[in-house]
Amino acid sequence: MAGVIGTPVRHSRSPAVVNAAFAAACLDWTYAAFEVAPGRAADAVSAMRTLGLGGLSVTTPHKRDVIASLDELTPAAADLDAVNCIAWAGDRLVGHNTDGDGLVASLRASDGIDPTGARCVVLGAGGAARSVVRALAEAGAADVVVVNRTPEKGEEAAALAGAVGRSGTEADLASADLVINATSVGMGVAPGAEEPLPVDPQRLGAHQVVIDLVYLPLQTPLLLLAEQRGARTVDGLGMLVHQAAIAITLWTGVAPDIATMDAAARA
Ligand code: ATR
Repeated sequence: MAGVIGTPVRHSRSPAVVNAAFAAACLDWTYAAFEVAPGRAADAVSAMRTLGLGGLSVTTPHKRDVIASLDELTPAAADLDAVNCIAWAGDRLVGHNTDGDGLVASLRASDGIDPTGARCVVLGAGGAARSVVRALAEAGAADVVVVNRTPEKGEEAAALAGAVGRSGTEADLASADLVINATSVGMGVAPGAEEPLPVDPQRLGAHQVVIDLVYLPLQTPLLLLAEQRGARTVDGLGMLVHQAAIAITLWTGVAPDIATMDAAARA
């Protein structure tokens, strides 16, 4: 038994995606969404130990709160001060942060795009952005420029990329190979709507890959305009699927079938 803790999680796509992967791999596992109220993260980790749950995904608002109850953190989770996946290592509970690695794996595996040597601009400096910034640097990006509405937060996020990271402005888009929207701008916008945008689309062009981590709607206003300007576009389900695949491998030791998971997410 595995699951996701958070609130709200009742409408999460993760159970559909993870259970499809379990079924395709003939794994005798099941995955459920557990509504856990703010402030109850420690109780949920305690329940994981008591009930012997095989793994937990962690989402808002518990990503930081679970840390105090865990035995160990990976370097990524420690740097980011946030955990999105809990797995057993023997009898110890380890907190992982797999969002950024999920994006890098998704680009490499599903889209044939290698961030190694790429000049990257990350829009936003929240939890998702920070994980992506760190993972791009670890994957060998040539530079990682963070463009954020609040520049001070952008600088903090850029520090996670070490020597290749810096805070920048929209002008940095001109020389970017990869542009990643990790702000929440565009979420829940009706398909085909022209606004709102996290960046001026005039700055995007045919030499670029534009990735939106927002996946509701799948084609965000940003992706639509980027495509019209000739850029290659990638929607946000790849990261969702690949971070779930990393979690499944951590829990079960089995690498799940990505195509099955992708189809379940899209369905
Ligand atoms: P998550 O953890 O899901 O990444 P978050 O931590 O709430 O989400 O971060 C949201 C990001 O989107 C932030 O970078 C935020 O910018 P600020 O740091 O300036 O708050 C950005 N964001 C949200 N709404 C925005 C808007 N209307 N315009 C530009 N940036 C926005």
